[in-house]
Amino acid sequence: MQICELLKSGYSKISLVKEAAFLDVEVILAYLLGVSKEYLLAHGDEEVSGEDALVFYSYADRIALGEPVAYITCHKEFYGNDFFVDKRVLVPRPETEMIVEMVIKFLEGVVKYVDGSQKLKLVDVGTGSGCIAISIAKHFQEYLDDPLDEVFAVDISEDALEVCKINIDQHGLEDKVQALQSDLLEFLEDGEVCDIIVANLPYIGEVENRFVEKNVEEFEPNLALFGGNDGLELYKKMFQQIREKEVKFKLMIGEFGFDQGEKMRELLSKYFEQDERGIEEDLAGIERIFFVKKKN
Ligand SMILES: C[S@@+](CC[C@H](N)C(=O)[O-])C[C@H]1O[C@@H](n2cnc3c(N)ncnc32)[C@H](O)[C@@H]1O
Repeated sequence: MQICELLKSGYSKISLVKEAAFLDVEVILAYLLGVSKEYLLAHGDEEVSGEDALVFYSYADRIALGEPVAYITCHKEFYGNDFFVDKRVLVPRPETEMIVEMVIKFLEGVVKYVDGSQKLKLVDVGTGSGCIAISIAKHFQEYLDDPLDEVFAVDISEDALEVCKINIDQHGLEDKVQALQSDLLEFLEDGEVCDIIVANLPYIGEVENRFVEKNVEEFEPNLALFGGNDGLELYKKMFQQIREKEVKFKLMIGEFGFDQGEKMRELLSKYFEQDERGIEEDLAGIERIFFVKKKN
């Protein structure tokens, strides 16, 4: 069978259940044959073995059932970096890149205005694949005056931490990023300094705000999706830990879900009344990211 014939039958299989099937089909065939998508299009008349064609159809069936392509290829690009992913972790989403951008902007300001002796500690809570912590650490890897001293990638799930460690190794960040098991910020000592806190915690509500696509719930780890009744229970718990442990931070940034902006505002004013705080919209104009900056 030829490449172009396989692409065509893959499109028709998947497009029955999913829009934008073209890209998925090209991605899985390119992955299977170990070539680029451009190569496929330029070599449509090349023969593919019967064995490869069968594997391709099994992949197309999995996608037609709603499985994310990233779980088949075990790769996902995030902030221009390649991450290993499998069903133990959430597939990184493009909107989460905003957290990385905001932290980098903040830290670049620190590099400019603070002398290199003052290094900072960053904690990524609910790290999953490690995409946020690793993207930030990697950005500063080549800097002569990297503002980061230590980066902790924290998750409650041992499975997720195994994936995170694969990515730490893959990006050569073993000396900078440490994967750590903890229930949110439980691992911190009372009064500990933790300059930057970033978090993309599970925020889908189990009762209210239950905005979740069927295939996401079916294929991605539930521990990475659901955040209690209204979806914000884990954020409340983390804010409470910060208060009780008197954690000292300079900047905290986190992601939340559709229609949770008002509730997040209320939480932020309850827990961080004295601090500069705000909410940013994503590219689709949906309130998505909160930040808290300490005034000091
Ligand atoms: C929405 S996923 C985010 C993964 C990754 N940071 C990303 O942006 O793609 C949330 C992560 O939080 C972790 N998690 C859930 N409850 C937690 C808790 N109590 N303490 C720490 N991590 C938790 C899950 O295992 C999951 O990996």
